[in-house]
This record gives sequence, C-alpha cells and structure tokens, in this order.
Amino acid sequence: MHIRRAAVAALMLGVSAVAVQAEMMAPTTPPDAPKFDAQGEPIFVNRSDIADYMALPSYSEPAWVTAFVDAGKLPPVAERLPKEPLVYKAANMPDGPGVYGDVMRHVIGGRPEGWNFWAGQSYGWGGIDIGLVECLTRTGPLFTVNSSDLQPMPNLARSWEWSADGKTLTVKLIEGAKWSDGNPFDTEDIAFYWNDVIMDPEVTPLMGASEATYGNAKLAIVDPYTFTMSFDTPFPESVLYAMAYGNFCPGPSHVLKPKHPKYGGESYEAFQKAFPSDMMNFPTMGAWAVVEHRPDDIVVLRRNPYYWKVDETGQQLPYLDEMQYRLSTWADRDVQAIAGTGDFSNLEQAENYVESLKKAADPASPARLAFGPRTIGYSLLPNLSANGWGEPDARGQAVRELNRNADFRKAITYALDRQRLGDSLVKGPFTTQYPGGLYAGTSFYDAASTVFYPFSVDSAKEAFAAAGLTDSDGNGFVNVANGDDLNVTLLTQSDYATDKNLAEGVVAMMADAGLKVTLNALTGKDFDNARDAGKFDWIIYRNQTDLITVVQNTDKLAPVGPQTAINHRANPAGELDLLPFEEEMVKTVNAFIGSRDSAERIELMKTYQKLYTENLFAIGLTAYPGALIVNKRFSNIPAGAPIYMYNWAEDNIIRERVWVAADKQIGAELHPNTLPGAPGGPGPITAN
Ligand code: GLA
Repeated sequence: MHIRRAAVAALMLGVSAVAVQAEMMAPTTPPDAPKFDAQGEPIFVNRSDIADYMALPSYSEPAWVTAFVDAGKLPPVAERLPKEPLVYKAANMPDGPGVYGDVMRHVIGGRPEGWNFWAGQSYGWGGIDIGLVECLTRTGPLFTVNSSDLQPMPNLARSWEWSADGKTLTVKLIEGAKWSDGNPFDTEDIAFYWNDVIMDPEVTPLMGASEATYGNAKLAIVDPYTFTMSFDTPFPESVLYAMAYGNFCPGPSHVLKPKHPKYGGESYEAFQKAFPSDMMNFPTMGAWAVVEHRPDDIVVLRRNPYYWKVDETGQQLPYLDEMQYRLSTWADRDVQAIAGTGDFSNLEQAENYVESLKKAADPASPARLAFGPRTIGYSLLPNLSANGWGEPDARGQAVRELNRNADFRKAITYALDRQRLGDSLVKGPFTTQYPGGLYAGTSFYDAASTVFYPFSVDSAKEAFAAAGLTDSDGNGFVNVANGDDLNVTLLTQSDYATDKNLAEGVVAMMADAGLKVTLNALTGKDFDNARDAGKFDWIIYRNQTDLITVVQNTDKLAPVGPQTAINHRANPAGELDLLPFEEEMVKTVNAFIGSRDSAERIELMKTYQKLYTENLFAIGLTAYPGALIVNKRFSNIPAGAPIYMYNWAEDNIIRERVWVAADKQIGAELHPNTLPGAPGGPGPITAN
C-alpha cells in the first residue's frame, strides 16, 4: 500500500532525476518585533492568595433565591454548599466583594450543537462552555501567579499529592459539592469520565483528551472524594495542566450514564445526541446553567443555586444572575462590545483594531479596551502524514509526499512576505513576522534558537526546483508529471475574517512563486471535523496555548501520541510515519514532560524551537496582541488579563467573581428572579 502510494506520487510529480542545486538566501534570526506595550500589568500573587477552601460562619444568597427556599423548592444555602466551599479572598479582588444582580451579554459566532461535551459536542465557544463546565484544576488565572508558585490552581480537585517515587498522584476532590440539580459531585463522576469517555475508544470528548493526554495513567477510585493516578515515569507534572479546562472536566454521570451503551444506552450515536441543544437545565458544575435556547438568536443561562464557590463574606457566587449569549458572528462581538450593546469581546481579528481603538479612546465609550501580550498567532500547517491519515486521493498523496520534503517546505516559507501579510490585516505596530514555533516575548522563547527564512521569491523558486517541481508548460505554475498544474488545497476556517484574509494572502503569494493553491473555506464544526480527520493538504491555524505557555497542552507541541499534533496524526492502523526531525521533536518534548529541572527544561525548549523552525514543522505567518474589551460597568476585572494565554479571557477574568454596582445595573435580565428547573424540564422556574 505504502509503496504503491509513493510510486503514484512520484509519477504524478515527474520528479526529475537531476537534483537542482542552486543558491537560496541564508536563514537568519527573526527580525525584532515592533514595540507594543501591553496595557496594564497583572498584580502577581501566589495561588493561595486568590482562593482557598474553608468553612465560613454563615452564608448568604440573593433575597429572591431565599424565596425558593421559603417555598420549599430549594434546601437552605448552607446545605447546598460543600462543607468547605472554595472561598475567593477579598484582598485579591480588584474591587472587593460585590453585590448581586445584572447580566453579562456575550456575543458569539459559534452555535451549540448539544450538551454532550464528553462525546464531542461543541457549545458554540466564546466562553459558553467555560461558564458551564468546571474542571479539576484551573489555569486561566495563572497569568497573575508568581513564577515561583506556577502550578495549576485547585478547582474541583482541592489538593493533590505525589508519592515519594513520583509515580502515584493522589487527588482529593472538594467534598459535598453538588451539580446544579442538587445531585452529589463525587468520584462516580470521575469514574464515568475516565472509564466511559477517556478509556472508551468509541467516545471522543470535544477537546480530544485521551489516555495519552494523561501520560497513559491508570486511574483508581479510593473513596467518594479520592482517586489515584499511577504512571510509569516519575512526576509527570504536566498531568496537572491536563486536568484544567478542555480536558478533565467531568460530566454529570447521573444523566450521562443511562444513555451510554455500556449501561443500556441504545448506541454510541444515540449517546452523543441524547442531550440536544433544546434540552434545558442540563446539570452543570459551573456558575450558571442553560434555561433558554432560541436557535440563531440567543442562549440564556441563569445562576446555579448549588454553585460551590463563595466570597469571604459568605455570599454564594456568582454575583451575576444571568449570562446571555447572542448567536451572531465573531466580528459582531467586537462591534457590539465597543457600541455597548454587548459586554465582552476578545478583540482578536486584527482587521477591527483601528476602528475599535478609535471608538474606545472616546472618554464617553461604554467599553474599556486593553491590549495584552502578542499571543494571537497563525501558522500554515502542512499535513505531514503520508501513510493514510485522512485517506488522501492520488493528488492529495502527492502533496503529502511534497510536504515531507524539506525543500518544498522551504519554498513555502521563502514565498511568504510576512510583513505584507501582517499589514494586510492591520497597519501599525501590531503584527510581527512570525517564523513559527514559540512566540517572541513568551518565557521559553529564545531568538538565537529561532530560524527565520527571509522573504525571497527567487529562493522560493529555487527551492521548488530543488524539490523536483518545475513549470513545464510555462503558464507560471509548477506542474505534475501529466502536465497538470500542481494544485494544493488550503483548508481555512471561514467564521473569522482574519483566517480567510491570511489564507487569501497565502494563495496570492504562492501564485507569485509559481504554486497554485485553492482555498477550502469551511465554517465551525465542518472545519474542525475536516481538520481532525486529516482531510487537508495545508491548513491555516490559529495557534493554541501550547506554543505560548509550553507547560499547558505540552503533548500538543509534537506528535508524541497518535492524535496529539494537529498536522501529523496516525493512520487508521494507529501508525505514525514520523520524519527524523519529528522523532527528535518528540524526544525533546517527552524529555521536557519528564523533567523537573528548570535549567534543563529551558535548554530542551531551545532545542525544540530550533528543530521546529529550522525544519519547518509548521510555517509561521503572523503574530499580534489581542485586546480585552469589557463594558465599564463591571467590577473585579483583573488588570493585565490577556485575552489568551493559559486559557481564554472568559476563564482568565474569573467571571463568577465579576459584579456590577447596583446603580450601574442595566435591567437587561431576560428571566429575572428565576432559577434553572429540573434537567430536561421547561427551563427557568419561579419561586411560586
Ligand atoms: C472562540 C473565540 C475566542 C474565545 C474562545 C473561547 O474561539 O474566537 O476569542 O472566545 O472562543 O472558547
């Protein structure tokens, strides 16, 4: 099979026997990024300064919630809370403990597919899932944590301990916390997540977590609030990061389990679809639960009366009674946040910067806008699998073989005028030429280990020739053996203007260098499905947290497992056909995961960066800062909150402790004085 594919590929390309040896421009270190200062410095603290677990002398709740207690519809607040709730410290709150009421009006470009996050259903992004699903640890707020104390924050896991040999991790859950319908949260939920989601090959959670994500751990339940994970190697601390958002966020086993085929559910397909997006009050551990969904219009969330976090004065959180998600477009999120008809946006599409900045500069602007570090970046990822991932046809297979050719990848990078690409999004000091790999300005970045191939159409042409590609018919595009133009398809996400603009820029620049590229622009879930199934030659990709923080999602830095890297996954037989430099990358990343020696870790990341950028594992395009836009009426928005670092700003700003002063509340609640009803029931309920 493999040999036949390669033969077909060679035939299609008409690879010339005589290798072309010509002069290409020498690689250098990357040009310095234009100076752009983040606005607002975080206040650095230790994790225990932010929150702790403890019993308080008394607890309180909004008066209208007490009406539910008085009517016999809810137990008293002290009985709904765990014995020792998570308590946010007043001293760490930018504006102190707050008051109840009001709503945060989000606008999102995604759409909820259904509530089975654990079987791969998306809630529509933009923070809707982050507000509903809670995880064992939490990393968003780490942008404010001292480097000497840098470890994930406890969350549903209140503590953990390594055995002396580092091969067993004992995790203690918060005791007595409850789901939003009052059902206990305990190791039954952990066991279901582990055995019937992670270990069940038929079930893939939304963010793709698998055994490999957790270092191939063996998990054992000890008691209702304790479990252990055992490993072959000592102290795989990255597992603590893998317990944060996206991954170890258990679902409500009491509703999920009966629909799972192992426990009498009809089929895996039926399991995935058992909790459709019109099902209301799906139980959450988050601060809110969904009570209304009007397709293509709005999703409304109301406060979870069992939420297990409080402030130091004993007020049960969240302060905000309602969360709204207008179902619109990502670009509209910026427009509405700036106009004051929406409350929040991650300004991340550089095309909107100038207009947004201008409007936000007006003292009368309803929104405050603050730029953070340069952590929004895009890459062009060549599909490096040539042994069947995504089942390419003969044309696709020929492109895969080319993608694996270093000269071909060099041709792509030489053909890119990154300055022009960045300027096409926004002029000014925002964008910087991005060679790929770790971002300049992040803690593990080392310029001397970063290889940059300068823009040169001539060098690109030489490199194409060195890869055996020539323009045999003189029409300006390099050809395959039968005389057709070589045609590469570029998969891109069409929900964001930036992705499309970059993709169009790439198409034009490749044309200048003689390579025909065709766009395949897909929306939302179709894009994700094509990406995850390997159905692409090249892909334009907005980079994730791994390249910013290194410690978060470390396994995604290289193809360390069959499904970890975006652009190189295993074929259906589970085989990975890694190139020699990828083998080196994998070794380096695994050594990093296995090391607790910070000097060694720094060196390993230099090696990683060199391997990545010199060999062009992926090809960097542009990187720029994002800005957080939040309506001015909100209190407790931490200074210097980046829109993206360990997680998105919807996690970073700790929304459950955000509040609005009584005289600034806007009266925009759609379901005032209501709480989520019973799972599957009709939505919001009143006290009487
Ligand atoms: C989308 C948006 C981001 C952020 C995330 C949160 O990806 O583009 O700005 O809101 O959702 O999941």
